[in-house]
Parts: sequence; C-alpha cells; structure tokens
Amino acid sequence: MNLPLPERLPDTDAGHAKAAEVLRSGGLVAFPTETVYGLGGDAGNDRAVAGIYAAKGRPDFNPLIVHFADLEQVKQHVFWTPEAELLAQAYWPGPLTLVLKKHPDSPISPLVSAGLETLAVRVPAHPSARAILRALGRGVAAPSANRSGQISPTLADHVIASLGGRVEAVLDGGPCAVGVESTIVGLVDKPVLLRPGGITEDALAATLGRHLTVRHKAEAISAPGQLMSHYAPNALVRLNATEWEPGELRLGFGDMACDLNLSPSEDLIEAAANLFDFLHKLDARGGRVIAVSPIPHEGLGIAINDRLSRAAAPREG
Ligand code: TXA
Ligand code: MG
Repeated sequence: MNLPLPERLPDTDAGHAKAAEVLRSGGLVAFPTETVYGLGGDAGNDRAVAGIYAAKGRPDFNPLIVHFADLEQVKQHVFWTPEAELLAQAYWPGPLTLVLKKHPDSPISPLVSAGLETLAVRVPAHPSARAILRALGRGVAAPSANRSGQISPTLADHVIASLGGRVEAVLDGGPCAVGVESTIVGLVDKPVLLRPGGITEDALAATLGRHLTVRHKAEAISAPGQLMSHYAPNALVRLNATEWEPGELRLGFGDMACDLNLSPSEDLIEAAANLFDFLHKLDARGGRVIAVSPIPHEGLGIAINDRLSRAAAPREG
C-alpha cells in the first residue's frame, strides 16, 4: 500500500482550526496530549471511529477513550457520580481517564466502547489538544497514535513512522511531557484501577479517601493495554538488567554507562517522558535485544514497569 504521507499541521491557531475541520468532516487527525499522541476521530461518527480501528489494526474488543474540552461536555454522555466529581476536580484537565456508565441518549458511536455499556472519558491538559477540542465542540475518540501492539508515540515523527498515510494530518506539538498514557479508573461500581499511568494510585486513593481495587492481569480484558504483549519494539526486551550482555542495546536508569539513559539522576518523571522515545530510538538501531535497567517500583515507576513488562511479554503469532 502506497499512501501519501499525512499533512504536518503547525501548532498555531490555523493548525488547530484545520485539525478541527478535518475531524468535523469525518477524517482522522493525530494530535499531542500531555501523555502521548492520540489518533483522533469524531466520536459521534461511526465511519470515523471504524476508521480509527482500521488505521491502528486494532482488535475490536479494545475500546477507545473519548476526549472532551471540558467537564460540562463529559456530563452529557455519562452517569456522573460523586467520586467522578472528586477525581475530575483534582486531576482534570490531566492524565486521568474515568470509565463510567454511558448515558443511553449519548450520540457517541457504540463502536467506541466496542459493545460495553460504559464509556471511557478524559479531559486532556495539553493546550493544543484543548484548542482542537474547543474548536470542534464535541468528543474525539483517540487511542494512542500507533499501529496496534507497537510502542506509543511521544513525537509527531513517531506517529508518521507508525501510521504513515493512514492518518490525514498530524498536529506537530513537539514532545509529550508525561510520556506514559493516562491512568484509567473504573467508577461503575467501586473504584478500580484499570491501567496505571500518569497519575499514581496513591494520589488517587488520597483524593478518594479509600483504596482502589487493582485489576489483576489474569482477569478478562475489560480495559486498556491489558493485552499482555503490547508496546512491543521489533527487538526483544530484557528487563531488570544489572549487567549487559555483548551486543545488547543498553537502556539505563541512574548513573551508568549505557546507550541511552532514561534518567541519569533517577528521576521517574524524566524517565517516563523519555521511555517510548528511547525505545523507538534503540529499536531503530536494529539490534536483537534491548536490555533495560531495573526501575524502582514506586510512583510513576509502576506505570513505567507496566509498559516495560508488556514490551517484554512473549509475542503472539
Ligand atoms: O493517555 C491516554 O490515555 C492516551 C491519549 C491519546 O489520551 N490514549 C490511550 O488510548 O492510551 P488507548 O486506546 O491506547 O488506550 C485506551 C484504553 C484501551 O486499552 C481500552 O481497553 C481502555 O482504555 N478502555 C476504553 N474504554 C473502556 C471502557 N469502556 N471500559 C474499560 N476500559 C476501556
Ligand atoms: Mg495504546
């Protein structure tokens, strides 16, 4: 397939307006959020949503997050709860996704939640994402802007390398600040952590005044990157490497000699922001194995280790 490359839109008022126009007419636009780049389509347009699944090559049981400009828009589509209000007040706009019961009158395409009666919603903080969402005035379904199973994109160039002409336009807003996807919390019943991410479980528990149930990896897929093999580079990934084997590409953490260092000063925020870009960069060198230093399993380290363990999981097929 020889598709033309997507149009690269500038991060200006004109760029945001053009992005909104493409979305309004049913096209797909990739845009930056504070977590990763999203592959956006009008969430109320069945054809656009189907186009997202097709562009990603995504198994259709993996539903999408709908992004909104503000809380008022969100409330038109879901049954809002007091705990949703607490979390939204504390973390929106920001890297948190809430899964709530979908309102039967919501015009969001049923394809978005792939048959579930719930909807995943979030209000992103990135100024370009917000400008596009405001200009469009309705919800945008947006998974990470990569082919299914590949590493998530934190730069416009990653999107173009993975999706090419499967997306009409890419709004180039530079690198994403958080670098791992949003935390997903289910609030249909008691609060459940469905995916660790940009906001830590401890912070959420403090806001709610109660612990969250953590979904066990072996349970049925009702959430995110719950497919075990995910975020996969072409190279094999070896975790918790405390010494390097000959020929390995070395992804370090802390003060050490290596090929790329997630954070020489052991700063987990810096490490999360670098994670996907560095996996892309090492993978592009074409080696057989990427070995990764141990990452402390605390705070953002939990989301980083979740992504790394999926990148290292046995591949299907
Ligand atoms: O940071 C993010 O969340 C990024 C940016 C673009 O916003 N988006 C993102 O989307 O990570 P995606 O599609 O790669 O991951 C969304 C996850 C899916 O794996 C899906 O399983 C889960 O959200 N999800 C969506 N709707 C759901 C629902 N109704 N119930 C449970 N999980 C849901
Ligand atoms: Mg993804």
